[in-house]
Amino acid sequence: MPELIPVLTREEIKKRITGIAVQISKDYENRELVLIGVLKGAFVFLSDLIRHLTIPVQLDFVSVSSYGSGTSSTGEIRLTKDLSIDINGKDVLIVEDIIDSGQTLQWLSNYLSSLCPNSVKICTLIDKRERREEQISVDYSCHTVEEGFLVGYGLDYAEDYRYLPGIYHLKL
Ligand code: IMP
Ligand code: MG
Repeated sequence: MPELIPVLTREEIKKRITGIAVQISKDYENRELVLIGVLKGAFVFLSDLIRHLTIPVQLDFVSVSSYGSGTSSTGEIRLTKDLSIDINGKDVLIVEDIIDSGQTLQWLSNYLSSLCPNSVKICTLIDKRERREEQISVDYSCHTVEEGFLVGYGLDYAEDYRYLPGIYHLKL
């Protein structure tokens, strides 16, 4: 049986989101901010984050496929759902569930930058350091871990566990 070891409770997640929401609201005051969630993993995080912001924002989603059903990247990235709003001249904040090798975000920031926004920054729920391959600058992060495979609060393993309110380390 897979084992679930608690990493963050729903209360701890809420506290951290409140903290970065204050920072983001301050940094983007009087700007045209578009939050871009990376499906599916970031949907829970983004829906909580947006309700803690105190500035007006626009919202969109993209979907990229980089993982099969395993726990490590296939290295191949494809856009499976594109933006539906125009980000030309706007400030973009990518909202991701977890950064691992950094390949997905490296690819996505390059793609979004090609659409001529005013800026592109990165906000992640979890910054996982162990397997980083790309020099990614993470602008906002709720939690850092060195290693392990995490599930819950939107994060999945082969589409399971997304519904859990807290975040867990999955031991297979
Ligand atoms: P990267 O391209 O290696 O940075 O992989 C990032 C993507 O892989 C994330 O958006 C997640 O969808 C997935 N991923 C990486 N590590 C984990 C994990 O520990 N749990 C769940 N998904 C993960
Ligand atoms: Mg993801």
